[in-house]
Formats: sequence, C-alpha cells, structure tokens
Amino acid sequence: MNPSFLLKFFFLPHIVFFFGFLGASEPQLTLDYYASTCPTVFDIVRKEMECSVLSNPHNAASILRLHFHDCFIQGCDGSILLDDTITLKAEKKATANIHSLKGFGIIDQIKNFVESECPGIVSCADILTIAARDAVILVGGPYWDVPVGRKDSVTASFELTNTNLPTSDESLVSIIPKFLYQGLSVTDMVTLVGSHTIGMARCQNFRSRIYGDYESTSAKNPISDNQFSNLKTICPPIGGGDSNITAMDYVTPNLFDNSFYQLLLKGEGVLNSDQEMYSSVFGIETRELVKKYAADPLAFFQQFSDSMVKMGNITNSDSFINGEVRKNCRYVNT
Ligand code: HEM
Repeated sequence: MNPSFLLKFFFLPHIVFFFGFLGASEPQLTLDYYASTCPTVFDIVRKEMECSVLSNPHNAASILRLHFHDCFIQGCDGSILLDDTITLKAEKKATANIHSLKGFGIIDQIKNFVESECPGIVSCADILTIAARDAVILVGGPYWDVPVGRKDSVTASFELTNTNLPTSDESLVSIIPKFLYQGLSVTDMVTLVGSHTIGMARCQNFRSRIYGDYESTSAKNPISDNQFSNLKTICPPIGGGDSNITAMDYVTPNLFDNSFYQLLLKGEGVLNSDQEMYSSVFGIETRELVKKYAADPLAFFQQFSDSMVKMGNITNSDSFINGEVRKNCRYVNT
C-alpha cells in the first residue's frame, strides 16, 4: 500500500487523537488587556522594533524565532528568556538554541522602556509576542492583532527544549506530531515554517542536505547549479565551517514574502525539513500547501496571521496560576 495513503488516512488521525487534547489550552488572552494599565505598550514595542530592524534587518528573524522557541516549550511564557542560575537550567543553553538563538538584548531593551512607563504590568512573554508580530510587519509581512495577558513562567525546561523543538534533520513524519502536540495543524506547520523566508541557517544544520539529496531535488538549471556551488563553498563536507551561514531564501533574504515556497518548488530548500514539505512521499497535504502559497502570496499572508495567533495562544495553565510579571526578563522575581 502507498505509504502516503497510510499516513494520511491511518497514521495522522490517530496522532491527532492521541495528542490533540494536549495542545493549546483555552487562552485567557484579550486584545485590550493593557488598555487601562499600560495603553502605550504596543507603541513602545513598535518603536523599539523599528529602530532595531532598521539598524539590522536580521533582528526581525531573530525575534520571530525566539517567539517560536518560547511557545513550543511549556507555552508562550517567556521561559526561553531566562538565564542559567544555580536552580535553573536555561532553555537557551539546549542544543537547538545555543550559539543559534539571538535577540535577547532587544527584548531586554524593550522591557526596560516598558518598565519605566508602566512598572510591573507587562509580561516578558507578551512583549516577545508583540515584538514578533512587529518584526514580521517591518520586513514586509502581514499584520495581525495580538491577544495579550500572558504571565511569565517561574520555571524553564531544558529537557523539553530537546524533545519538543523540531530539528532540520527530522523527517516530516516525526515533525508533524510535534506541531499537533501543541494544538497546531499541518496547515499551521507549513505556514509557520514560511518564516524561513527570512533569516539564516548555519552549515551544521544544512550540511546533510547539500551533501544529501539537494542535487536530485533541485532542477537542473544554471541558477540552481550556481546556488548549489555557493552552498558547497560556504559549507564544506568535512573540515569545519559549522558556523558559516547562508540565507534560507537567497532570492529575497530580508523580505517576508512567499519566495521561500517558490524555492521549495525548485527543490532548493536549504534545510532537509523544509524541502521535505514538498518532496517527501509522506507530504501529500504539505505539498499542496507549498504549491498554493508559492502561487498565492495573499493566501500565505492570511493563513500566516491566523497561525501566528494560534501559536501565540499556546498557553500553560501552570504559568497562569503560578506565573508572574518578571521585572527582568532574564530572571524570576525574588
Ligand atoms: C519544521 C519546523 C522547523 C524546523 C525544523 C526549523 C529549523 C530551523 C533551523 C535549523 C534554523 C537555522 C538555525 C541555525 O542554523 O542557527 C532555523 C531558523 C529560523 N527559523 Fe525555523 N524551524 C522550524 C520552524 C520554524 C517556525 C514555526 C518558525 C516561526 C514561527 C521559525 C522561524 C525561524 C526563523 C525566523 C529562523 C531564522 C533565524 C535567524 O536568522 O536568526 N522556524 N529554523
């Protein structure tokens, strides 16, 4: 029997059954949560993000990824922002994050401004969520309203960081359940991964792709050949270069658009996990979505806005009950 048939009609519904109930809990978030207590928060975040992205457009990618890595570990509760202490093992030190996640200083700076305007009111988790929305807009992406009212966690989970976050060398069959577990659908996954239209990847995360099936997936045209040679120069098969970087969307690296999906159609995805959405035999549904977004930027933008709200609403009842508004995003209040 065709394996893709098995996945779609047998495997996936069971995964949804087992994991669906563990996903996003009822969000207690509202658009006007700070309307009376800190009405200027959205303006402050926007202004700081404008300066930050203007000075370096890559900051938009850093903040967007930071938000994703926050939400996938015990919900969007600012746990990713916590530094190591004697009693806390920081998520930022886990393999998927170390030497890779950036943007912590930007959030610190925004938090300082917000604290001087409205002390003790706005959570770091909310600041990060609003900043991620502004990051996307500032590099040409869509707008969405950000529900707020998150609490900051008093804990972090180094262990969950290693298990919940998908990695670029994981197969689609293993990545999809990680999204379903968070209450996010296959559509949400394909759409949110469209974030790779901005930002960079390090050689250690795409070496296996370029010395694997890149040549066979990429169409035999001169432009693909050129890009393939560039990638091999940046990332040698052996002998180092692990931290050398390349844009995941070399056509418009600093613009939030749908060209990432167009690259997947040409077989030029930089990460194995990205290309699999189009090329995997298990990717019936994902392939159709990639084609749709490559052809219809508006459809991508509309769904991206919806999926970002959904991801931002991954909450954790423990943070709501025991959480706090941190004074400093890097440390739990004493
Ligand atoms: C299948 C799921 C995903 C996998 C396997 C994945 C993996 C990766 C990897 C390996 C990198 C490069 C990191 C490095 O080399 O240092 C990266 C970068 C990035 N990811 Fe993802 N990612 C996924 C989903 C997402 C989602 C859902 C978002 C946002 C909603 C996102 C946003 C980003 C951004 C913006 C960057 C660029 C960061 C920068 O340049 O600083 N990713 N991702």
